[in-house]
Amino acid sequence: MKPTLPERDREVCWHPYTQHALDTEPLPVVGASGAWLELADGSKRLDAIASWWANLHGHGRPEFVEAMRRQAEQLDHIMFAGFTHEAGVELAEKVLEIAPEPLTKVFYSDNGSTAVEVALKAAYQTWVRRGEPSRTIFLALNGAYHGDTFGAMAVGEPEPFFAEFSPFLFHVVHVDPTAESLQEALADLDGRVAGFILEPLVQGAAGMCMHDIEFLKDARRICDDYGIFLIADEVMTGFGRTGKIFACDHADISPDLMCLAKGLTGGIFPLSATLVSEEIYQAFLDDERAKAFFHGHTFSGHPIGCAVGLASLKVLKEEDTPAKLDHIGKRIEQGLQTALAWDGVKEVRRCGGIVALELDLSCDGGSDDGNGKGGYLAPVGERLRKACREHPQVLLRPLGHIMYAMPPSCVTDEECDLIAAAILSVVQSTLQ
Ligand SMILES: Cc1ncc(COP(=O)(O)O)c(C=O)c1O
Repeated sequence: MKPTLPERDREVCWHPYTQHALDTEPLPVVGASGAWLELADGSKRLDAIASWWANLHGHGRPEFVEAMRRQAEQLDHIMFAGFTHEAGVELAEKVLEIAPEPLTKVFYSDNGSTAVEVALKAAYQTWVRRGEPSRTIFLALNGAYHGDTFGAMAVGEPEPFFAEFSPFLFHVVHVDPTAESLQEALADLDGRVAGFILEPLVQGAAGMCMHDIEFLKDARRICDDYGIFLIADEVMTGFGRTGKIFACDHADISPDLMCLAKGLTGGIFPLSATLVSEEIYQAFLDDERAKAFFHGHTFSGHPIGCAVGLASLKVLKEEDTPAKLDHIGKRIEQGLQTALAWDGVKEVRRCGGIVALELDLSCDGGSDDGNGKGGYLAPVGERLRKACREHPQVLLRPLGHIMYAMPPSCVTDEECDLIAAAILSVVQSTLQ
């Protein structure tokens, strides 16, 4: 008999963030349209997590397909070192138009982790160019997640993913999202810090942990006081997820470097960008070739990604995607309110179109390590994961003991209610 797709998959594929000894087979997806995924058995799932926080406007939009087709016909790919192309330049122009003003240059790469690598390398090397190579420490938030490459791992929270790599990771001091904590670390390390990186307003992988807008203002002020770079990793929060185009816009602050990926292309093509201030760009200009920024990827600034990025930005403006996502978030949050009365439910929180419901770990006998990560591998997470998988209509995926939703902007009010109902049913069956 012909093997099934999951059977063939098991023979040859190694999946991300998957324990193949324990996890059930991956779901075979054969199509996607709007907010709905079609599975091989003909059933459908509402994509409430936007395919890893990426899909912004819905799957399979004809104008995106058309933009990619047109670009592929005209110019499918060209390296971005020594060459340029219309889509790459226009997307940079359009992104800078909506980005905080002091950001003047766009450095393309191809995923969120590499956008972060570029930011860390450019920030440190600017200090080297300025004659301060001893600024080798970065500050980051407790619970941070910035990707899985080595630099990104170094600034990430070590537990539970990265601790085994600690011999390879550079010096990072993690702080809480409070002015006092940041100030204290900088006072201790004055003169040795290159920059502070953070996921503004929402720390995704930490469990959709949310901090105050006020902290963003404090962070900008304190980084200015100490003359260090502020790096905003807006890989997840960018392009409307928090109810404004960028999370930094809520605080009206400008980082020195900004990392963008996921929503940059509407979430459908691997393309990312690191935006930098003119000051950083200028630090690399020199008569000596060796002083250039020696970093690049084969597919940096991929023309097809840039073309679909332009189409996505057009939709973002025309449809006011940040406002749509904000409405969606409110509707889902409203639908989850009943759970607040349940034993074992700790909190429902929201920022724009991102909504999280956190379970009380004590209901599981688990312990929290104080930064929200203690629950990632907690048994309750396993039970939530199983219940999510069994849900017949909605695709959900817990972050340990935290359920969340972050659907694309095309979901209707009825679909929001369906998402909220699915979260409630998953939580209820898990707590029973
Ligand atoms: C805030 C943040 N930064 C960086 C990344 C890494 O992006 P990628 O998975 O595209 O490498 C992620 C991924 O989820 C993220 O949430």
